[in-house]
Amino acid sequence: MSAASVTPIDLNITPRDRRFAREEKPSRWWHGGDPFATAFYNALSATFPKGEAFFVESVRQYRAGAPDKLAEEIKGFTTQEAIHSREHAAFNKAAVDGGYELKPLEDRVQWRLDIIKAKPPIAALASTMALEHFTAIFAHELLGDPRHLADAEPEAQAMWRWHAIEEIEHKGVAYDTWLHATRHWSRWKRWKVKAQVMLLATRNFTIDRTRGALALLRQDGITGPRAWFGLLWFMWVRPGMMRKIFGAWAAYFMPGFHPWNEDDRHLIRKYEAEAALGTESAKKVRRAAA
Ligand SMILES: [Fe+2]
Ligand SMILES: [Fe+2]
Repeated sequence: MSAASVTPIDLNITPRDRRFAREEKPSRWWHGGDPFATAFYNALSATFPKGEAFFVESVRQYRAGAPDKLAEEIKGFTTQEAIHSREHAAFNKAAVDGGYELKPLEDRVQWRLDIIKAKPPIAALASTMALEHFTAIFAHELLGDPRHLADAEPEAQAMWRWHAIEEIEHKGVAYDTWLHATRHWSRWKRWKVKAQVMLLATRNFTIDRTRGALALLRQDGITGPRAWFGLLWFMWVRPGMMRKIFGAWAAYFMPGFHPWNEDDRHLIRKYEAEAALGTESAKKVRRAAA
């Protein structure tokens, strides 16, 4: 693999096969009773089943011939993403059962993916790498600042946090696959393609998710300036996820960038410590009840 990879050697990509919100489904405005917050996260969730299946396909086609460590990481990555797709499909179904129509949002994703799939496979890998960076910095911010999910229902919160830690854990896989796949390219060509694809992916992501969230708000009867203002305020001002990830997003364009230049596995450890505590207190409650 290229010397540019700084993926920690002791990194272990561990799929955590969990299920959420099967018995107790999220309510319609599961995010603190706030239609704007709910619309933003629902619009995002609507992209995951198809989007993550596409990520898996894009990376997997480079597994043959990859060094052993990378091949192993690709396996961990594909398993994690497959489980994420399944859980977001269940989460989306709950939104549909709650009365939302997600099909126009899913069709938009399919339309974007069809355009990329008509190009050479390296385009799909570059798009995946860009969106995986996006996902990883989103996940970092989501876990790093509890305010993002503070008002969400516990089960929905647990699902988004679980997804976020695995996104951090496998954040280098698409990038290292790219470094391997383009090892014979010049540094300039590699940077140029990577940067162009990131700009395009960011533009499309921002337009499509905004459109998607507005479509969901319309289904809530919220339209016009009220919908725009409420949504943009949530996305860019408070809590302002899009604004807060801007610096980490821009780092992608710097020479020597690698997702693991920032080792943020403390967020995974924190989650796991809390999950263990949760299990412990659940055990105590059960013991006390027995
Ligand atoms: Fe994922
Ligand atoms: Fe991912």
